[in-house]
Amino acid sequence: MAFIIACASSKGGCGKSTLAVAIAGVYASNGTSVLLIDADARRRLEDEWFNAKTVSANIHVVSTRSDDLSKTVESYRDKYDVIIIDVEGSANWGLAEAIKAADFCLVPSNVSFQDLRDAQKVYDHVDSLNKESKRYRHCWIVWNRVPPAIRSKEMTATMEEAVQNGLPVLGTIHERDAYKAIFSYQSTLDKLREGNAVPSAAKAESEIARLITAMHDELEKKAA
Ligand SMILES: Nc1ncnc2c1ncn2[C@@H]1O[C@H](COP(=O)(O)OP(=O)(O)OP(=O)(O)O)[C@@H](O)[C@H]1O
Ligand SMILES: [Mg+2]
Repeated sequence: MAFIIACASSKGGCGKSTLAVAIAGVYASNGTSVLLIDADARRRLEDEWFNAKTVSANIHVVSTRSDDLSKTVESYRDKYDVIIIDVEGSANWGLAEAIKAADFCLVPSNVSFQDLRDAQKVYDHVDSLNKESKRYRHCWIVWNRVPPAIRSKEMTATMEEAVQNGLPVLGTIHERDAYKAIFSYQSTLDKLREGNAVPSAAKAESEIARLITAMHDELEKKAA
C-alpha cells in the first residue's frame, strides 16, 4: 500500500507543484516508485513537467479530475511505494478529496500573514476531519521561498504567529533557482545536481531529503 502525501493548500502559487515534484525526485533517486497524481485541471505536471527522457523511470504521472481523485488513488494504491497528490490552488472539492485520501498533508506556505491564514484553514480542516474519522492524517506546514540570508520583520513575526497558533512546522525550503529549474529543465533535483546545470541543486536536494526524513520521523513517532 502506497504512502500518500498531499501537497495541500487553497493558496495559489504557494509552491505545491514544486514541492510535489521535488519530493518525488528525491524518493525516486533512492529507488522508491512514485506516482504523482495531478488533480489540477491545467495538468501542468503531465503537460509541462513530465518528460520520459529526462525524468527517472521510477516516477509516473497521471492526471485526474477532482471528482475522480479518490477512485484514481484507489486504483493505484497497490502499485507504488509513494503517491503524491498535487491540487489546484483554491478551496475546492479536489483539495478536500486530496486531504481525505492522504496519510500526510504538506502545506507549503510563503512566510507572510496572508499565506499563513490559508495554511491555518487547511490545518483546521484536517484537524476537524481527524476528529470525526477513524484514520489520522498528519498535517504540517512547510515554509517555502525563505530567503537564504536576511529575513524581514514580517517574516519573523509570521513565523512567531505560527508557533503561537500551535501550527506544526515540518521544515523550511529556501528560495533557490534549482526549484524553478525543475520545471524549465523538466527534471528533478538529483539530475540537475549531476548535470551541474544549476549550482543550488545540491542544497535544494538536501533540504528536501531532510523534509522527507522529518516526515518519516513523525510517522514513526505517531505509530509508537
Ligand atoms: N523554493 C522556491 N524557490 C524558488 N522558486 C520557487 C520555490 N517554490 C516555488 N517557486 C516558484 O513559484 C512559482 C509557483 O510555484 P508552484 O507552481 O509550485 O505553486 P503552486 O502552489 O503549485 O501554484 P498553483 O496554485 O498555481 O498550482 C513557480 O514559478 C515556482 O518556480
Ligand atoms: Mg500547482
